[in-house]
Amino acid sequence: MNSNDQNGNNDTAELLGGAPFKEKGQATGFEPQKSKGGQTAFFSVWDLHAYYDESYIVQGVSFDIREGEIVALLGRNGAGKTSTLRAIARVDSPEVRHGEIWLDHKPLHDMSSHEAARNGLGLVPEDRRIIQGLTVEENLQLAQIAPPIGWSIERVYDLFPRLGERRKQEGTTLSGGEQQMLAVARALVRDIKLLLLDEPYEGLAPVIVQEIEKTLQQIKKLGMTTIIVEQNAVAALHLADRALILDMGQIVFDGTAQDVLDNEELRHEYLAI
Ligand SMILES: Nc1ncnc2c1ncn2[C@@H]1O[C@H](COP(=O)(O)OP(=O)(O)OP(=O)(O)O)[C@@H](O)[C@H]1O
Ligand SMILES: [Mg+2]
Repeated sequence: MNSNDQNGNNDTAELLGGAPFKEKGQATGFEPQKSKGGQTAFFSVWDLHAYYDESYIVQGVSFDIREGEIVALLGRNGAGKTSTLRAIARVDSPEVRHGEIWLDHKPLHDMSSHEAARNGLGLVPEDRRIIQGLTVEENLQLAQIAPPIGWSIERVYDLFPRLGERRKQEGTTLSGGEQQMLAVARALVRDIKLLLLDEPYEGLAPVIVQEIEKTLQQIKKLGMTTIIVEQNAVAALHLADRALILDMGQIVFDGTAQDVLDNEELRHEYLAI
């Protein structure tokens, strides 16, 4: 269980945006890192440091992601996975005090969470945040309230027929698996460039995990660049092209998903699988 990452945060706080950078001068002269293929990375995190007050959690994280790549961000409980996603999404905490975040040539590190969302960031938080009192369809409509708009609601229902069947049902009365589908759908109806999934399989029965996995495979085929954080590392590695392993707020491994599946020592040391 991991309930320590949503302390004191809510949608209102997110809309108010993250804390401003303290070291803006750093930004000048930095170019998004070059990926191995010599292309400018589609998404790039460079030397990211983030804090909850004096608690230093994200300790110099750097990585690149190519467009269309699915990256599994793994590590033990408390390694800093959720904090890294939250820092990238520019939500109110943790506070980013150093580093740069680039998405499709746009500097997310200079943006509030609201601006980052408008520039293509789609965070699906672990608690799913289905809005109480609204139907499935109203939850989707609310996500589309500000442009740029992504998928149509009908297209969402094609991908998630269960949501179509339950369009008039109150969102919070859906099953856990259906709520996860709705949370992902809410990201897709906005025009996103990077999907951040925090433990999409958490608390779900294996058969539902398989169902969500199939949908994520379909989304992958459409070329959606994605970072998936999952305790179910094996499931995440089967979906992902690449894996990053975090330990105590630092990246200790960056390689292919297959490398992790093949490396028993690495799995044992950092993932307990
Ligand atoms: N709001 C917060 N205030 C203070 N410390 C926090 C807060 N949220 C998380 N932390 C601390 O930051 C560290 C990293 O937590 P984080 O939630 O990012 O880890 P995680 O890798 O997502 O873990 P899990 O697998 O349990 O979800 C932990 O030591 C945690 O206690
Ligand atoms: Mg977490």
